[in-house]
Amino acid sequence: MILTASTAAEGGGAGMSAYGASKAAVRAYARAWADELGSRGVRVNAIPPGPVDTPMWDAAFGDRAREKMEALAAGAALLLQGLTAHHFATVSHPVRPGDVALVHAAAGGVGMMLTQIVKARGGTVIGLVSRPEKAGYATDAGADHVLVSSGDAFVEPVRELTGGEGVHVVFDGAGATTFAASLQVLRTHGTMVFYGPLIGDVPTIALNDIPRSTRLTYPVTGDHVRTPEELAARAAELFALVERGEPVVRIGGRYPLAEAARAHADIESRTTTGKLLLIP
Ligand SMILES: NC(=O)c1ccc[n+]([C@@H]2O[C@H](COP(=O)([O-])OP(=O)(O)OC[C@H]3O[C@@H](n4cnc5c(N)ncnc54)[C@H](OP(=O)(O)O)[C@@H]3O)[C@@H](O)[C@H]2O)c1
Repeated sequence: MILTASTAAEGGGAGMSAYGASKAAVRAYARAWADELGSRGVRVNAIPPGPVDTPMWDAAFGDRAREKMEALAAGAALLLQGLTAHHFATVSHPVRPGDVALVHAAAGGVGMMLTQIVKARGGTVIGLVSRPEKAGYATDAGADHVLVSSGDAFVEPVRELTGGEGVHVVFDGAGATTFAASLQVLRTHGTMVFYGPLIGDVPTIALNDIPRSTRLTYPVTGDHVRTPEELAARAAELFALVERGEPVVRIGGRYPLAEAARAHADIESRTTTGKLLLIP
């Protein structure tokens, strides 16, 4: 942080009058302010015309500030994807112990959240990722099985893993290339939770294209948090889970807000994992 004399003067009081009086007085005021900031955990590196060496800052304050910043980052990372996943796994298809779920993009933000919430509710997770290097992230989130597939080649492996029965629920946010295959791996009375489309629109489907005795739902989080009261209630449930250690938020990258375009390009490259944060 650089504290300029004019900034110090804008602090008001003695600084303001000193600004008009003499440079020495302004410098003395700026130095005093720098010392005050230092005691609150802000290191001042320079006051024009040169560097300064403020007293040792309060390390405990710094630690507390860092902890708060991390908590803030975790909160920012948690809320949208956490609420989304929580709503899908508790309302769209209330996961019951023993349910087998197929989670698309299991190393992505919503995917990792879904995996953890399904596991916390006693389900089994088959996670899909597009690249082998993402498999570990899905496993870390709790996936019991991880399949590497970026298209629709997962049907047979999922059938094999479920003894030919298929899964109780598919969480698919992708769209065009996966939709039909996701329907094919549902077991009787299974639920397709479609929440994309991430990659292109789903082709038009006829009712008869949907396997018999299955359910298809297209949830949007906003519909389940329409009022401040609903938001508070659902967020409270989510934070209670987090306080118990489930789910864990994974921040996959932090970008200065000015580099938002780079974050988008990275997402499109399909190399990212977890939640990306833009820091103002
Ligand atoms: N309905 C709702 O209320 C709701 C709420 C939140 C988010 N969403 C939707 O959910 C989807 C995922 O959101 P998210 O926050 O989890 O995003 P994310 O963290 O960026 O993850 C997206 C994942 O999608 C996979 N993917 C598949 N095709 C892709 C492509 N062409 N380009 C980039 N990634 C691709 C990637 O995993 P792999 O490479 O491993 O496949 C990636 O990890 C988005 O479509 C978003 O709009 C819907």
